Formats: sequence, structure tokens, C-alpha cells
Amino acid sequence: MIKKCLFPAAGYGTRFLPATKSLPKEMLPIITKPLIHYGVEEALEAGMNTMAIVTGRGKRALEDYFDISYELEHQIKGSSKEPLLKGIRHIQNSCVFTYIRQKEMRGLGDAVLKGEPLIGQEPFAVVLADDFCIHDKGDGVLKQMVKIYNKYKCSVIGIMEVPKSETYRYGIVQGDIIDDNILSITDMVEKPKVEDAPSNLAIIGRYILTPDIFKLIKSVKPGAGGEIQITDALKMQAQEGKVIGYKFEGVRFDCGSIEGFVEATNYMYNRGKECW
Ligand code: G1P
Repeated sequence: MIKKCLFPAAGYGTRFLPATKSLPKEMLPIITKPLIHYGVEEALEAGMNTMAIVTGRGKRALEDYFDISYELEHQIKGSSKEPLLKGIRHIQNSCVFTYIRQKEMRGLGDAVLKGEPLIGQEPFAVVLADDFCIHDKGDGVLKQMVKIYNKYKCSVIGIMEVPKSETYRYGIVQGDIIDDNILSITDMVEKPKVEDAPSNLAIIGRYILTPDIFKLIKSVKPGAGGEIQITDALKMQAQEGKVIGYKFEGVRFDCGSIEGFVEATNYMYNRGKECW
């Protein structure tokens, strides 16, 4: 059973400055719910009950959000506004939040490693909250991935096709198709030049990782952008045949970019109020 979900949330979100000067980018709302709220809902739906958040300086709003606000609760109790807190109350009552700080921005691999004391030696999920994933007609992406994990019992990464010209923005995988939408990954490279990309299959911010990943991250040298990359640690697992790439069902918006954020907002607005 996968019970814990790690949320790397220490990044600066510079593309949204000045908003992200004092507001964590994970707190930017798609209509009424912050990005991280949707990520936590997705993890809960997938059966996880411990949310391990890797924060950094200036990210206290995240902890406050998942805590009780006595003053507000008191003020709106019994009023017409009270139902607006139903969703967040459900989250507070259904799971435990643990936090640790990443002191220096040394990359996604380093952020995952910082979460080791919160995770321990068990398989766990990772959600990058600014990769906003929605599946209208069935299971959320993480729930789909847990099913894949239960079958193959190795690391699972969410992948999707992107235009070849965009491959430089992602971790790109190479692999053998072993079933519908499922690949056994043989190689991967973080943010390759377009001409070096081994395919147009990009890693999306949804992972299920086996705990040996921590040891592998410790052995990884700084890679793309001079940072410790999770992709480089996963590549070692992949070379042993222990990584599955899963083309998930649903849509994904890059809410780390202004265009993606606006598209996600419009998409959710059109889906209707009950979705936000
Ligand atoms: C990270 C990962 C990359 C992945 C991407 C998905 O990159 O390192 O492999 O494709 O998330 O959004 P980032 O966007 O944090 O630079």
C-alpha cells in the first residue's frame, strides 16, 4: 500500500513574480483552490493519507493552509459561507501533513532526498503541484499509477507525448512498449537538446518511487542546469529494468507557465462549480 505522497514545494516560481514574492507558487489558485489543494485531493483519492511537503523559506502559507484557522472558523460558523470550507475541512480530517525544509535549491532530486526522513523505507508517490492533472471521466492520474505499481512493483513515472520542439523542457524517456500505454523504460535524459531527445515522451510531475531511489540520488552528480536531477537517479533504476512509464488518461496543464495556468483556469471554470 502506498500511503505517503511527497510534494516538492521549495521552488521560487519566478515566472509569477511579483505574486510569488510572498506567496508560494503552490498556493496560486485555480479559481478557488490552490494548486497544492488539487494535488492533495489527487493523492487522497489514490489512497494516500500522509502528505509530506518539502518547503523552503517564505513557504509558511502552505502550513497555514492545511491547518485550522480558528478565527475564520469562528466568524463564519453557521453563515452561508461555511460550506466553502467543506473541501479543505475534509482534507484536514483525512490526512496528516508533515514538513521539512530544503535549505538550498539544488534541484528536484535533492528536494526528493530531503523528504527521506518523512518517507522512510517504503514506496511513495511524488506530485509536482504545478503539473496540474485532471481526468474528467474516471480515476485521477495518481490512482491510475497506483494500479500500475501494484502490478509491476517498481517505480512508475507519468509520461505524455509532447511536440518534438518542446522536448528540451522535460525529462525525456526511451523504452519498450509492453502493454497498452505502458513502457518498460530503458533510458532517460533530463532536458535534452531537441536533436538529442531519444523520443517525444516527456516525464510529467507524477511519480511512484521505490525507496532505493534515495540511495541512488545520493550517488548522482549535478546534471542538467547544475542541479541534482531525479531523472538521473531514475535512469539507474531504468537500466536495471525497474521503471515503468505510464501514458496516463486525462489532461495536464503546465501551471508553472502563465499560458498553462490560464488554460487550466479556463478549463476548470468551464467544467463547473462543483469541480472547484
Ligand atoms: C521537472 C523534472 C522533469 C519533468 C518536469 C515535468 O522539471 O525534472 O524531468 O519533465 O518536471 O514538469 P522542472 O519542470 O521542475 O524543471
